[in-house]
Amino acid sequence: MTNMDFYNIAKKATRGTMFFTIASLALSLVQCTSKHQVTTSVAANNPDKGLKDYYKNYFPIGVAVSMASLHGSDSALIVKEFNSVTPENDMKMGPIHPSENVYNWKNADAIVDFAVSHQIRIRGHNLCWHNQEAAWMFKGPNGEPVTKELLLQRLKDHIFAVAGRYKGKIYAWDVVNEAVDDSDDTTQVYRKSNWYKICNGPDFIDSAFKYAHQADPNAKLYYNDYNSEHPVKREKIYKLLKKLIDDHAPIDGVGMQAHWKLNDPSPEELRKALDEVTSLGLKVQFTEMDITIRLPKPPPALGTMPAPTPVPDSGYTAQAEARQIAQYKMAFDIIRQYRKYITNVTFWNVSDRSSWLDGRGGGLLGGAAAGVNTPRVIRKAYPLLFDENRQRKKAYWAVVNF
Ligand code: XIL
Repeated sequence: MTNMDFYNIAKKATRGTMFFTIASLALSLVQCTSKHQVTTSVAANNPDKGLKDYYKNYFPIGVAVSMASLHGSDSALIVKEFNSVTPENDMKMGPIHPSENVYNWKNADAIVDFAVSHQIRIRGHNLCWHNQEAAWMFKGPNGEPVTKELLLQRLKDHIFAVAGRYKGKIYAWDVVNEAVDDSDDTTQVYRKSNWYKICNGPDFIDSAFKYAHQADPNAKLYYNDYNSEHPVKREKIYKLLKKLIDDHAPIDGVGMQAHWKLNDPSPEELRKALDEVTSLGLKVQFTEMDITIRLPKPPPALGTMPAPTPVPDSGYTAQAEARQIAQYKMAFDIIRQYRKYITNVTFWNVSDRSSWLDGRGGGLLGGAAAGVNTPRVIRKAYPLLFDENRQRKKAYWAVVNF
């Protein structure tokens, strides 16, 4: 209701001076409050403050980092804006443990040292995933398919080595990443990964949580996945979480990756996903947030899937920018309302100069996180709060002015 509406309703409601005086008083209060809000917003545009400062009474704000971002021009921005980091690739099974007796600690150690020296907290990502996997784990000593027992032993050794090394330094781990199936078939709860197939079911998920808790009893343990607001996948994730809780697995919360689009999720979907997960007594972290400006093209009729054709890049248009600002604002308005459940919001990459989304599908299919049947012919995703020159975008101000 605008001030004028309020004024008119008050005038119509009574001709008595008494009410009118009260209404006028109330109106000046409304005007006073909105003036105050304007002042607050202007004050909030303070170049000395970073995202972490605006959100200091809410939750830590993080960013995915690589060696390049630590040593290049991003590092000052990281220190200024964020108080949590997640190694983008350097702690994943394949990169950190490429063969049985080889661990690549160099990059992971450097990220941990950087964060510790700047008093930035660290999320570990991740201890078990079907991508960027350590392929050697799936083969037995003589090249035969590994047995379930040996695979779980290797998982345990891996988790003890990695979570053990950073014990006390990593405050939260994505223990298992993306173990839920993407299809619309509601009976297929679990992704048919090597882990699932060799273990003949989802027990490896329970085991991974158990090992992580043994390796570092103080670390907070998360199950992490994408499209967690989509109704079908949401229900599958719920089933997995319910099972873990029923099994007494040491799980603290859910990572919602938040690789979002301009029209996805809707506010209702976001709230529903949060309500469901928090009803289980779990915390939530938004672990990999970005909002691509690229909308998926509608899928072609079955069987006629064309090869993607390159089209000119429309760039960061004013319309896309406006929609992105609105989507970021909507998401953070809701996220702040759920603050008592939310323990971290992390962006996946630093600025639009370089996003993991830009390169997907060799540049032909990039620009949005994977989904079923979403062929895309797109270029840069422009998904973050800082532009290609590392400057704050309008979406940044929409996120911090509240
Ligand atoms: C991505 C990285 O950003 C890329 O650099 C890498 O090539 C592939 O993985 N979900 C996850 C992240 O959990 O680990 C992925 O990170 C993005 C999707």
